[in-house]
Amino acid sequence: GSTVRYEAENAAISQGVVEANHAGYSGTGFVNYDSVAGSRVQWTVTAPAAGTATLRLRYANGTTANRPMDITVNGTLVADELAFAGTGAWATWQTRTLTVTLPAGTSTIRAAATTAIGGPNVDYLEVQR
Ligand code: GCU
Repeated sequence: GSTVRYEAENAAISQGVVEANHAGYSGTGFVNYDSVAGSRVQWTVTAPAAGTATLRLRYANGTTANRPMDITVNGTLVADELAFAGTGAWATWQTRTLTVTLPAGTSTIRAAATTAIGGPNVDYLEVQR
């Protein structure tokens, strides 16, 4: 198989900002979601053939409150209010994994906050096929 990493700071960001003030991120930074429901990051990924893929979202949440997000693939909800629990510190990054089916070609994968607290800080999306 292969794994491709897509940095959050290079994705399409709506109601979030790229920051780099907490260590341990990959690439040049991470996305700090605005504290509003609907703040989101959307990646465009490519798969040479249709099939199952493992998605890995790397995030940090320095609070003790869950920061759920809806995960959609090409507009279809694949994870409803997926939990992003506290990681202990803003510089402590963890990975959340889910399995999806991707068509051949390009797909859009979106992670959108579902509460007014906003999302966690998001470092990257990896697609393992
Ligand atoms: C702090 C932290 C940010 C984080 C924010 C939040 O300000 O430094 O990185 O995004 O809290 O609660 O979302």
